[in-house]
Order: sequence, then C-alpha cells, then structure tokens
Amino acid sequence: MSAKKVDLSVEFCGKKFLNPFMLSSSPVSNSAEMVGRSFDAGWGGVAYKTLVTDRVPIVHPSPRMHGYDYGDKKLVGLQNVEQTTDRGLKPNLLDIAYLKKHWPRHRVMASIMGFSNQEWADLAKAVTDAGADMIELNFSCPHMTVEGSGCKVGQEHDLVEKFTTTAHKVTDLPLIAKLTPNVTDMTIPAMAAKRGGAVGITAINTVKGLSEVGLDDWVPRPNVFGKGAISGYSGPAIKPIGLRFIADLAAHPELKLPLSGIGGIETWVDALEYLLVGASTVQVTTGIIHYGYRIVEDMIEGLSDYMAQKGVSRVQDLVGKAIPHLHETGQFDIKRQGIARYDMDRCVGCGQCYIVCRDAGGFALEWDEKKRRPRQVEEKCLSCMICGFVCPVQGMISFKEMPKAFKRRETITLGRARS
Ligand SMILES: Cc1cc2nc3c(=O)[nH]c(=O)nc-3n(C[C@H](O)[C@H](O)[C@H](O)COP(=O)(O)O)c2cc1C
Repeated sequence: MSAKKVDLSVEFCGKKFLNPFMLSSSPVSNSAEMVGRSFDAGWGGVAYKTLVTDRVPIVHPSPRMHGYDYGDKKLVGLQNVEQTTDRGLKPNLLDIAYLKKHWPRHRVMASIMGFSNQEWADLAKAVTDAGADMIELNFSCPHMTVEGSGCKVGQEHDLVEKFTTTAHKVTDLPLIAKLTPNVTDMTIPAMAAKRGGAVGITAINTVKGLSEVGLDDWVPRPNVFGKGAISGYSGPAIKPIGLRFIADLAAHPELKLPLSGIGGIETWVDALEYLLVGASTVQVTTGIIHYGYRIVEDMIEGLSDYMAQKGVSRVQDLVGKAIPHLHETGQFDIKRQGIARYDMDRCVGCGQCYIVCRDAGGFALEWDEKKRRPRQVEEKCLSCMICGFVCPVQGMISFKEMPKAFKRRETITLGRARS
C-alpha cells in the first residue's frame, strides 16, 4: 500500500477530524491568528486556550515558564505557572467564530473553566453560540490561583459530575472532560464525568512537579521575584505518565468513551503510541513550544509511512491495538526465562556493560583487559537487560529466551567482598 493511500481522518466524539493531530489548550492555541496558521501547517484540530468569564481578571505570574534540560537535550521537561487565558472572553469568542468560518473542515474544541456553577453554564452556552464544534471542560490545571478551580475540581469526582451536568443542560455539543494526572486512579473522575454527560475524556494535563532549584538563590524555578511553586510539568519527561493514564482509561470495562491523549508528544512515534493505547486523537503543547507548528509535517508523513508498511488503511484501526497486550504483572508467565545475548563483532570495548553488571546486575560478565571485551557467564545472567540499555551500540545486546532446562546460578555469595 502506498503512503498516499492511507486515510488519516478519524472520528472523535461524533465529529470527523482530518487527522488525529491537535494543538492542546495552552499558549500554542491562544488566538485565531495562531490556530489558523497551525491549520495551514497541517494540524487537524485545536483545543483552544481555556476560556474564563471576565469576572475574575487573569494576570499571569512573571516569568511563567522554566525549561528543564538534561545533558544535551533541551526542554526534556517544561515547568509553568501559566493560568487560563488572560484575553477577554469576547475577543476569544470572535476568534472561535472566525476559525469556524475560515477553516470549516478543521475541528475547534473550546476549552472552558468556570469558577462557579453559573459560570460553567454561561461559558458552555457562550462557546456553543460562537460555533465551537465541541467543548473541553478543564478540570485539571494544577496551579490555578483562583481557589477551588482546576485540578482541585478534578480531584473531587462529585464536582466533576456536577459541573459536567451543568454544562450538559445548556448545550448539545459533545462534552469532553480534561482530567488531571495528579490523582491515583483517573477512572473514578472519568466515570463521574460520564455520569454528568461527558462523551469523551482528554488526558493528561500537566503533572505537579518541581523541576529545578536555583543553587545561588535557593528558589525553585521559575523564580517569580524570589518565590517558586510546585506547578505544572510537561514535555517528553511526562510521556510515560500520559500513556499510563490513557491505557488505564481505555482498559476500564465500563468507561468506554473516546479518548484524546496528551503528554510529551513530539514525534509521530509518540503520537502512534498514544493511539495504540487507546487515544483517537492526540494533542501537543510542549513539542510545539520547542519546535513550532511544523512538527506536524513529520507526524503526518511518519504515521502515513508506518500505516502503509503495516497495511493499515485507517487510523481508527490502530486505536487501542496495545490494550489486549496490557496485563497485571501477576499474569506474566514466569516459567519462561531468558538472558542477554551479546553480538561481540559489534562490541566497541567501552566496558559499560561490565560496570553495570557488577554494580547493579548479576556479576554475569568478566572483563578481558587484553582484548577489552566482556565475557558472559550465561548461568549468572539475571536478564535484567540493563546492560543493553547502557550499551552505546544500538542492538548489540538483545534478549534471548532460554530452553526450559536452563538453570541460573546463585551470583551473590556471602562473604565475597571479604575473600
Ligand atoms: C504554558 C502552558 C499553559 C497551559 N495552559 C493550559 C490551559 O489553559 N488549559 C489546559 O487545559 N491545559 C493547559 N496546559 C496543559 C497542556 O494543554 C497539556 O495538557 C500539557 O502541557 C501536557 O502536554 P505536553 O507535554 O504536550 O505539553 C498548559 C501547558 C503549558 C505548558
């Protein structure tokens, strides 16, 4: 199958999307001018920056973001203290109407956050009248300065149900609850949202974190005039957490709602992983903050090529494909065992595997200093596979299953250090 023949369009909560790639609600989706440019770049939809009523003026702390780098990699994580939109409600509603007029085939999901029951109703009605395709209910910002809002609502499932019901009474648009990862079990608020009338779930918003502390001034970052705060953390560092919550929701036997996945997506591979664990659409913020709207070109091309190679013609057919392979750890077949397998022809003699096997593994490697090569004692290998992860040569160390008769030898001998 050719990559040109695959169909990237997808249905999410009863609406057709040109492709599964969306901007998530944040500074990347803050105005019609920005969102329009992103649509032209290839994004299929937007969760527009969260709207509030004009009753409580929003002023962002300054500065409001801090990038967390790791080694050579910039922005592995992003810490932010940004609030909902600080633009007025009216210009934002006009922007939503403008987007629907000029890009009718693209999906505009209005994100809203009320600070009272009445405000949830007023906002849901206002964005419906403005022509939005669907509404995302923001129950998840972890650092709102307005008391009793954001993730404090998402952590109280009664409030999630109550505010979803309120919005449901005033609009026919699909309601999607955006939930917080700052809970143990997201399926509880998700079920509450469903009871209130939500037809989809978005996850995740940012994870509460503290990414860095200034060594000179001792202030957690971002340093807002001498004060830091535990606040929202996003970017590649949170992808495993986002995937986990989407998988939890997809595997829940009663929830059965379409899902929009977010958290650390930068590439088509990240996006595909979210689809495979059950998301129908995916949303991006930090990846765009880092590289710009243009990353969607690679996402479209990469996913199309992958689908063509796999012979999958519709994105929909990939959704949730990993879920049947997801189990409790107690269900693993521990009778089957294996060891690390070394392709010595490719070894560069760095010794990383030897060090890690001694200091964190099973003493299964001896070191030949003359040849600068490890020598494996198979029966001592614990199959932790950590040697493969520290090895700089991709694929030199792989996993192989051993026959049933294979027996491990005890590696940790009492008194060894003293002998
Ligand atoms: C600076 C910033 C502002 C954000 N503002 C909002 C917001 O107004 N509403 C919302 O629902 N999520 C907001 N988010 C959360 C993102 O939409 C997204 O859920 C989160 O950043 C994780 O995705 P990522 O790893 O792709 O950034 C914001 C994130 C950042 C970094």
